[in-house]
Amino acid sequence: MSTTATAASPTLRTLADLPGPRGLPILGNALQIRRERIHQQLEDWARIHGDPYVVRIGRRKCLVVSAPDTVANVLRARPDGFRRNERVETASRDLGFLGLFSAEGETWRRQRPMVLAGLDPAHIREFFPALLDVTERLRRRWEQAADAGAAIDLQADLMRYTVDVTTGLAFGEDLHTLEARSDDTIQRHLNVVLPALVRRILSPVDLPGWLRHWRERELRLHLQELRAAVDGFIAATRRKLADDPSLRERPQNLIQAMVAARDREGSGVGDEDVAGNVFTMLLAGEDTTANTLAWMVWLLHRNPAAAALARDEVDAVLAGSPALREAAQLQRLDVVDACAHEAMRLKPVAPFIGAQAMQDTVVAGVQVPRGTLVLCLMRPAGLDGATFARPEAFDPKRRLGEQGAAHAMASARRATMPFGAGPRMCPGRYLALAEIKLVIAMLLAHFEVDSVEAEGGGEPRETFAFVMAPERLRMRLRRRSTARAAAA
Ligand code: HEM
Repeated sequence: MSTTATAASPTLRTLADLPGPRGLPILGNALQIRRERIHQQLEDWARIHGDPYVVRIGRRKCLVVSAPDTVANVLRARPDGFRRNERVETASRDLGFLGLFSAEGETWRRQRPMVLAGLDPAHIREFFPALLDVTERLRRRWEQAADAGAAIDLQADLMRYTVDVTTGLAFGEDLHTLEARSDDTIQRHLNVVLPALVRRILSPVDLPGWLRHWRERELRLHLQELRAAVDGFIAATRRKLADDPSLRERPQNLIQAMVAARDREGSGVGDEDVAGNVFTMLLAGEDTTANTLAWMVWLLHRNPAAAALARDEVDAVLAGSPALREAAQLQRLDVVDACAHEAMRLKPVAPFIGAQAMQDTVVAGVQVPRGTLVLCLMRPAGLDGATFARPEAFDPKRRLGEQGAAHAMASARRATMPFGAGPRMCPGRYLALAEIKLVIAMLLAHFEVDSVEAEGGGEPRETFAFVMAPERLRMRLRRRSTARAAAA
């Protein structure tokens, strides 16, 4: 399927020709969509109406696509052919965190190389000792819970982990939320701000400013707290740059690079860009990785054979030492990597990506007028039996050895795009995979998982609020007996 900007053609279909769920006059399908289940609703409709189909939110018609080639073409046609939904930019600017995720045009072009450089594999390797340190602190926290026989609030602990990692890497200042006794951490504010952003983006109508202001008065308090934290990071960076001006030429992390650029004449980077990207790193790096890990821990617990395979690999790589020692060892965790990709195939935390057409164009043989929002569904291709045998099974072996033959692997990679695709693909993917491997290796090496459960048991419900998360999971651990660990 090609995505091209061609004029109207009689062989092409229009949005009006496409099937889709029947809606109400004026409101369209808006009332049929519950925000926290939006991804499942869109996937259900794809099963009923096929690919592509049309959904109407108010007067706005959105094209919904799920074929991986179509999705990849749309995502690759950014930034000139498509942009993120306009509302992402407006809401982020209004809430004060216009950064790489929400920026467009020249601003995005200027920022992208800086963020990429701050998160590239070389930086992750340099940062490895600090990553190990945060992972050891998570281990100690979990050992205390295991010794006390206490249930672990899985996502909350994983978010402490990802916040400490992200602030350490991107801002040179580990917040140590893993050691914080109370819940009064930066996460408390992020947990309010993220859903508010999603509410704004997905709202069927634009509320008048005064009404929005009144509804969001509590949100403003959380934003103020976050803003104070962000300003604190920037002030600390300014002090470091004043103490050691050579850092301006050789910045050691993202925030130093951005502050130095902000001070360079003609760089086009302003105070708001710096603050916006500090916010963005916190927002983009926290929930995504923490919830991917939460899904993965739950899936491993449900699939003991896969967990045993991964543990054997971890034991072999650790070779008797309690923790990984060097970044190169991450490359040897192929089974853990395969488990991570299986988890992201079955439970993608970004289950859809929106792209708004910048001009009249054609997607999957359908004429798409300028301004139309194309919703790319990321999960259906990963559940397609033609690409994945027994697609509902969590089976890391399909990606390994003979079963994971090169051609099968290539089509699997094309079908699942957990980090998106094209020029706006996630710049945090190397960091995310390093965090995932470190946490899972630590868990398998040191603990037996007695239970991972949502309240009421059963399969945890999927909830969409910025990312697709499992409902709150409780985990109970036992220390793995040293005799068994050493014998392994
Ligand atoms: C498992 C964890 C993660 C997943 C599944 C994930 C997924 C994604 C996806 C799907 C996108 C949109 C890509 C597109 O539009 O094509 C994205 C964008 C982004 N991610 Fe991640 N992400 C993860 C972790 C991280 C981390 C750890 C960071 C940084 C600390 C990060 C920073 C960003 C940023 C800044 C963008 C916007 C890029 C742009 O618009 O140019 N992500 N991520």
